[in-house]
Amino acid sequence: MQNHLVPKHHLTIEPYKPGKPLEEIKREFGLSGFAKLASNENTLGPSPLAMEAMKQALSETHWYPDPNSMRLKEALSQFHGLDKTYFHLGNGTEEILTHVARCFLQAKEEVVLSAHTFPIYTILNRFQNAKEVVVSLKDFRYDLVKIRESITEKTRLVWLCNPNNPTGTWFTAKELSDFFKKLEHKPVVVLDEAYYEYAADSDDFPIAQDLLFEYKNLIITRTFSKAYGLAGIRIGYSMQNPEITEHLNRIRLPFHINNVAQAAACAALEDKPFLKQVQATVRDGKNYLIPLLGSLGFKVHPSLANFLFVTGPFDFSSIYTELLKAGVAIRPITIHKPADAARITVGTASENTMLMKELKSVLKGLERFQDSGCAE
Ligand SMILES: Cc1ncc(COP(=O)(O)O)c(C=O)c1O
Repeated sequence: MQNHLVPKHHLTIEPYKPGKPLEEIKREFGLSGFAKLASNENTLGPSPLAMEAMKQALSETHWYPDPNSMRLKEALSQFHGLDKTYFHLGNGTEEILTHVARCFLQAKEEVVLSAHTFPIYTILNRFQNAKEVVVSLKDFRYDLVKIRESITEKTRLVWLCNPNNPTGTWFTAKELSDFFKKLEHKPVVVLDEAYYEYAADSDDFPIAQDLLFEYKNLIITRTFSKAYGLAGIRIGYSMQNPEITEHLNRIRLPFHINNVAQAAACAALEDKPFLKQVQATVRDGKNYLIPLLGSLGFKVHPSLANFLFVTGPFDFSSIYTELLKAGVAIRPITIHKPADAARITVGTASENTMLMKELKSVLKGLERFQDSGCAE
């Protein structure tokens, strides 16, 4: 009814479709136990040091938070060995991505991104009314060569996600360095490393921080939502040349990072034992799940993130619905046709066991359904 009051290009935006809230699913299916493996959260919980810090910070919530988040920027500066001026913070990485789009992408300007990547990039491109140039994946991986070739003097912004959500695949240090070496034009390049802490151990994964000094338009984003277990408190950061930091700083609102989030993030950076435990849990979980999923006929694609991307001759929409009734949430994904793939977060040992038990019985049930001719 109010369509005439909003800019026309807003109507092209598909609102983000989140997974159903846990409480709603439990109520709907009368479930007590539940494995939420749909949104790549850290199912071990928040870092214990962060929890302690958050409890203390709660008693300070009658004050406005530090608008410059100085303690957190100092902690990040120490952690990364970079000057404080290299850091920008956000109410989750999502907010940083919003700042970047607002700052560097205007109406009708070109933005280059990959197909089948984090959907927020498209929401932001459309919000800015920019012209999207979308590059196909190659074997479910980012095609950095094609992305580079699609960048012209008109390109203002490039979104890169490594490892990629939803496929879990990654581009290597060599691929990324070739990308920058051969880049003719100099758009702003966002490198979204939301899953960095799970990938960093891999020999061929880029240490992108080293590129910041050579490539001044690079913005690397990281989050506390994944490995640090703080998705609900909303805190992320980016690293970039101080000139870019200044631009981003101009357009943020003063109190966008609440004091509980600032305290939690500072403590989480110190919690090395927790991070190790999280990384080991995901590593063990993958070692358990990959062969078992393979034995059920799923193709499990290589992943350096805390989730697995699977394809195969299955109707992932039915699998999703049936698993949900059994108390397990995964995320169906559309690549070539609706729900022809799925993304499964690696959980704790007991969640992974529950997933495999329920998945086996769902597949059996669906086979019986098809054998009886009901599928038509
Ligand atoms: C690739 C990617 N970037 C960013 C985010 C959002 O992170 P945050 O919770 O910090 O907003 C996600 C969350 O799923 C993600 O997968």
